[in-house]
Amino acid sequence: MLRRLHPDQPDSFAFTPENQAWAEGQITKYPEGRQASAIIPLLWRAQEQEGWLSKPAIEHVSDMLGLSYIRGLEVATFYFMFQLQPVGAIAHIQVCGTTSCMICGAEDLVAVCQEKIAREPHQLSEDGNFSWEEVECLGSCSNAPMAQIGKDYYEDLTAARMGEIIDELAAGKVPVPGPQNGRYAAEPLKGLTSLTEYDSGRTQYNASVQLAVDLGDTIKRIDGTEVPLTTPWQGANENAAPKPRAKPQGAPAQAEPDAPVKGVQPGLLKAARSGGGDDLKRIKGVGPKLESMLNDIGIFHFDQIASWTKEEVAWADESFVGFKGRVSRDDWVAQAKLLAEGKETEFSQRAEKDGIYKK
Ligand code: FES
Repeated sequence: MLRRLHPDQPDSFAFTPENQAWAEGQITKYPEGRQASAIIPLLWRAQEQEGWLSKPAIEHVSDMLGLSYIRGLEVATFYFMFQLQPVGAIAHIQVCGTTSCMICGAEDLVAVCQEKIAREPHQLSEDGNFSWEEVECLGSCSNAPMAQIGKDYYEDLTAARMGEIIDELAAGKVPVPGPQNGRYAAEPLKGLTSLTEYDSGRTQYNASVQLAVDLGDTIKRIDGTEVPLTTPWQGANENAAPKPRAKPQGAPAQAEPDAPVKGVQPGLLKAARSGGGDDLKRIKGVGPKLESMLNDIGIFHFDQIASWTKEEVAWADESFVGFKGRVSRDDWVAQAKLLAEGKETEFSQRAEKDGIYKK
């Protein structure tokens, strides 16, 4: 398959401060002169943060490692695990299409994705919330057919269950991963035939599912606040303190996102107020192209964005073709509030220092 960069690219990329610290920590794992070896974990982290790998993200990681951009691009375009196009804001679904899963009904699962999400793989659903693709064997063949959704496996699927899972995700729920037909793990479908004495000692879920439920990050984007730095030789770091995890009581144990909100158009201006518009590129995620789109529809000032309600954010999330979901993902409202008060955000400070935007 030809793997190319997506035609619609954001204008910039920056790790969250926690992810930046994590990335810098990873680089210290490699001997002097071999820092380039950190490229896969860093690209992966960028993808975990944004959902996909944009050109600015690849270039940012290449810069961190002192690599020419073509070296970063070679790695990102070679490995299929890197998504080179935007993925669904809620979830990207990877349906296994290899032998066991194909024999057991993978084509039916693909048909559900085509019907509920989009006709073609790697195409966003109309609301931008889902995308799907067919992938090679994910190593869960004894629980075929299966699909990876976000970070976890959903196994022993049927077309009907696949449809329900997508509906539940769309409604803001995160179904418990693992076998979906009542099987505990990968034991015979008709029950255990050996080691039956261990049957009574079972916990509620098998170990993989239990961990997924404990972590609760099946479809969560990773901003770096979830896990400690794993570079103790760097000394104490506030990021090194493990964050308490919510202990689930029954299923589903994952933090459930808010239910979808209906969009409402915010107040727009015919032109910038006297004195001219603000430099909206100081908001993380807004580059020259998006700034000009914003101006064209009547958004010129930080205080306009700062006052958006949940419904108005939902409208904005839907309105910018090629940038769906960006407004809430980058929390424009919180950024705009600070900028409207004359304060700086972590991004605006760094962007100015790096010359990403010009005042
Ligand atoms: S064939 Fe689908 S997981 Fe192996």
